[in-house]
Amino acid sequence: MVDNFKEKAINWDKNPVIVSMSNAFQIEMLKNVNMSKDFDIMEFGCGTGLAGLNFSSSVNSVFMVDTSPAMLSVLQDKVLSGNIHNVKILEGNITDLDLKESSFDVVFSLMTLHHIENIPEVLKACFTIIKDNGYLIIGDLVEEDGSFHGEERVAHCGFNLSEIKKMFNGGGFTVTSLYKYYTVEKPDVEGNIRRYEQFILVSQKMTD
Ligand SMILES: C[S@@+](CC[C@H](N)C(=O)[O-])C[C@H]1O[C@@H](n2cnc3c(N)ncnc32)[C@H](O)[C@@H]1O
Repeated sequence: MVDNFKEKAINWDKNPVIVSMSNAFQIEMLKNVNMSKDFDIMEFGCGTGLAGLNFSSSVNSVFMVDTSPAMLSVLQDKVLSGNIHNVKILEGNITDLDLKESSFDVVFSLMTLHHIENIPEVLKACFTIIKDNGYLIIGDLVEEDGSFHGEERVAHCGFNLSEIKKMFNGGGFTVTSLYKYYTVEKPDVEGNIRRYEQFILVSQKMTD
């Protein structure tokens, strides 16, 4: 499988736009869920672990999944140098994981869903591995004109908020919160500064 993030991985954490998006998401996530010392959580599309590693001291375990060996290699170095013992790293596609049912209190993901064509498949996989009443939390781009990724083609140019809500409801999740929380600024291919909105979607696997 081609590693689309091979060239980007080494400088990922040095990009202030990426770091600012991750910081804003972490703050927003913590407004919506109280991390607990007995929580087992998972991040898919974890990349270099900018978000997930920061939660590791607040929970029992963090499972970090990504398809990019290059991104995971940077993450692995950080886990080793930080002497972090409750993080497990897995190279794989969120839709193909062979994990035990009802394993996680929280599954979350930032800026990854737009890279995945088949969202219902992601929801199905998440529904299986999330515990009853557990959370699925997503941070991603509000629909944009495709300029966010420049020449690169991605599966979705952001998401329409009412459509994504319908998809989550259809996947068995109850959306408890969905709103825009951050606007990121970055130059387009011509060097003009563009503004892109991001949303957070908080949902739960309600069983009654
Ligand atoms: C834009 S990066 C975001 C990384 C990280 N969440 C961050 O905010 O710094 C998207 C990440 O999702 C990963 N990814 C893409 N499709 C995936 C899939 N189907 N399953 C797991 N990871 C995936 C990519 O390898 C990449 O590391």
